[in-house]
Amino acid sequence: MKTKIAFITMALGFSLVFAAALPSGLAQESHVGPLTGNASSGKPLYKRFCIGCHGPAGDGQGENAPWIDPKPRDFTAATFKCRSTPTGTLPTDDDLDNAVTRGFVTTNMPSWNPLTPQQRADLVAYIKTFSPRWKTDKPGIPIHIPAETPVTIQSVLHGRELFQKMECWKCHGPAGHGDGPSAATLTDSKDQPIRPYNFSTGSRFKCGQTNQDLYRIFMTGVDGTPMPSFADVIQPNDAWDLVHFLRTLQTMHTPELALWQKYSSEHASEIKPIGPDAASGGN
Ligand code: HEC
Ligand code: HEC
Repeated sequence: MKTKIAFITMALGFSLVFAAALPSGLAQESHVGPLTGNASSGKPLYKRFCIGCHGPAGDGQGENAPWIDPKPRDFTAATFKCRSTPTGTLPTDDDLDNAVTRGFVTTNMPSWNPLTPQQRADLVAYIKTFSPRWKTDKPGIPIHIPAETPVTIQSVLHGRELFQKMECWKCHGPAGHGDGPSAATLTDSKDQPIRPYNFSTGSRFKCGQTNQDLYRIFMTGVDGTPMPSFADVIQPNDAWDLVHFLRTLQTMHTPELALWQKYSSEHASEIKPIGPDAASGGN
């Protein structure tokens, strides 16, 4: 009898706690295009589709997490890789929606394109209930991306200089194969080993696949990883030159690669290698 009363008191206590927590937490909204997402509708979807990896508490400790590498995102940290917003700031709802829709290539994070846009908007709202940062901070202001400059060999060559000067090669390797001198030692903000992107693996990045996506990736950085933001050191038009050069590192046939192949066959002796030797030789 005593235990029963204790149980009822406990249950009552819990429901009071929940009643207090519900309105604030589950009142969270998202705004994705014309849609308004609601955390209360997102919660059952999360339980059905996301909980196994991201966990009941949203901390990335779902029951499948031990077998997954890279680990599922910990939403309580509110640190996100794919943002249109400056490094260190919260992403926009559209950024989160894009990530959920696209999925993360080369990881266990699937594309949730089969869900409806409304369901994804509801899920985005629910994800934002896991960290109090969404109550205290506003998302950052998306960086401005100027119109793309023409693809010319001058642009590719200048991008190549930047790849050398900004030391992208130290992590990504001289040929962009993810095997630079620092590559083996890198860890993310959760102390997990992390490899730099290998540009020869395909046409897609975690954070998209278009030239605009590529521009955004290195100008906003991949937060929570050693991949820095270069917004403070690379000028907007120079950034397009770097985009054009990065396209020559991929295995698919890009106009940039065609220009580069033609140039390098005609000017082989003038091309300085990328890496420590080029740095000591000066520019
Ligand atoms: C099979 C495991 C798995 C499932 C199921 C899963 N995710 Fe993920 N998710 C991941 C992994 C792994 C990452 C981290 C990838 C990385 O860091 O490269 C991730 C990352 C994310 C991110 C981070 C985006 C960013 O920019 O950092 C969001 C948001 C996300 N998942 C939402 C969801 C939602 C919503 C669902 C359910 C509809 C879901 N995930 C289901 C494994 C999963
Ligand atoms: C200190 C090491 C380091 C340096 C320097 C560095 N990167 Fe990275 N980069 C990384 C790591 C680690 C990742 C992988 C992040 C992940 O998978 O979550 C990455 C990922 C990327 C990606 C793919 C992101 C995605 O969405 O999949 C691009 C593109 C990229 N880096 C471009 C550059 C460029 C351009 C430079 C130089 C201007 C640069 N990086 C300098 C470590 C570095």
